[in-house]
Amino acid sequence: MGAAAQATITLPVGAVVMGVESSCDETGVGFVRITDDGPELVGHALASSADEHARFGGVVPEIASRAHLQALLPTVHRAFEAAGLAPADVSAVAVTAGPGLAGSLMVGLAAAKAYASAWAVPLIGVNHLAGHVAADTLEHGLLPSPALALLVSGGHTQLLKVSSLAGVGPEAIVELGTTIDDAAGEAYDKVARLLGLGYPGGPVIDRLAADGDPLAIDFPRGLTRARDETDHRYDFSFSGLKTAVARYVESQQAAGVEISVPDVCASFQEAVADVLTAKTVRAATELGIETVVIAGGVAANGRLRALATERCAAAGLTLRIPRIGLCTDNGAMIAAVGAHVAAAGFVPSDPSVGADPGLPVELVRAG
Ligand code: KG4
Ligand code: ZN
Repeated sequence: MGAAAQATITLPVGAVVMGVESSCDETGVGFVRITDDGPELVGHALASSADEHARFGGVVPEIASRAHLQALLPTVHRAFEAAGLAPADVSAVAVTAGPGLAGSLMVGLAAAKAYASAWAVPLIGVNHLAGHVAADTLEHGLLPSPALALLVSGGHTQLLKVSSLAGVGPEAIVELGTTIDDAAGEAYDKVARLLGLGYPGGPVIDRLAADGDPLAIDFPRGLTRARDETDHRYDFSFSGLKTAVARYVESQQAAGVEISVPDVCASFQEAVADVLTAKTVRAATELGIETVVIAGGVAANGRLRALATERCAAAGLTLRIPRIGLCTDNGAMIAAVGAHVAAAGFVPSDPSVGADPGLPVELVRAG
């Protein structure tokens, strides 16, 4: 690169940003329009390779990358159709640069770079995790600053103080707590696997739990003992819960007792929702943050949504959760971060920006 600094670009109200997502097993492409009230969803399309991973009980990276390669162009075309837009309408291309699976990220990045170059529009490498939170702004408008976000996905479980989804300022996104072992979605997927329910585990456990008794089995709530109050006040742990479910199932089977899968699902789900909502409400109250956002794939969970609604109302907090279709991975959420960044003013990502599988949550932008 030459020494000349690139100029800052600010996109006006009305400009359309395309978003490309390929960090895990969903290929997503979305279009959002910048408005004074935040990004507005114009249309999006998705392709999933989840079925191809089901028999392995988790995502197989090689299968995911190949599926992205096959799905990307058709998904771009379907997204254009859904949005009623043409390439000439696009003012910037945002793409997930991380975190995620390296090979999968590379497919989306290569496509986004090619489109940005062909259409002569700026490229914006963005963080997938900021995307989950930004998905909510497509539905409920701009977030107050600061807001408290509970990000619960297959790979992450974090409490975040979010001041700027555009990544403006040194404390745009600050991590207050995280899981010290498994993510909440990972726990769902592992428990589903040990119950023989396939992948992904969240939706099937959510469904089966509806017919079970959440009080049937008293599963542990991770990091809620007295000494965790100081060391891990806003942190989470789900590996002990997963082990407790495994032990319960083994002990019942050893005793020749048939387990009630709905009861196990409901009791497991109750433990997850209880600890997630208790710690979130406590953090918001202690830090004086009035608005809570729950985002990521696990935010699609029925019990989590219900318990969060109940507990936030009791604590006088405003709760925002995107509609279920925008909780799991999609391209619109990536376009939404791109729109926040583009409306605030940005220096385009360099075309050499690479995949960063471990991109930290504090960085809204990459490259
Ligand atoms: O955000 P996401 O689509 O991908 C990642 O960035 O990881 O989250 C996927 C995770 C999976 O672990 C899946 O089992 C979980 O979200 N999930 C759910 C539900 N729907 C998806 N967990 C609980 N209840 C659901 N309804
Ligand atoms: Zn995700």
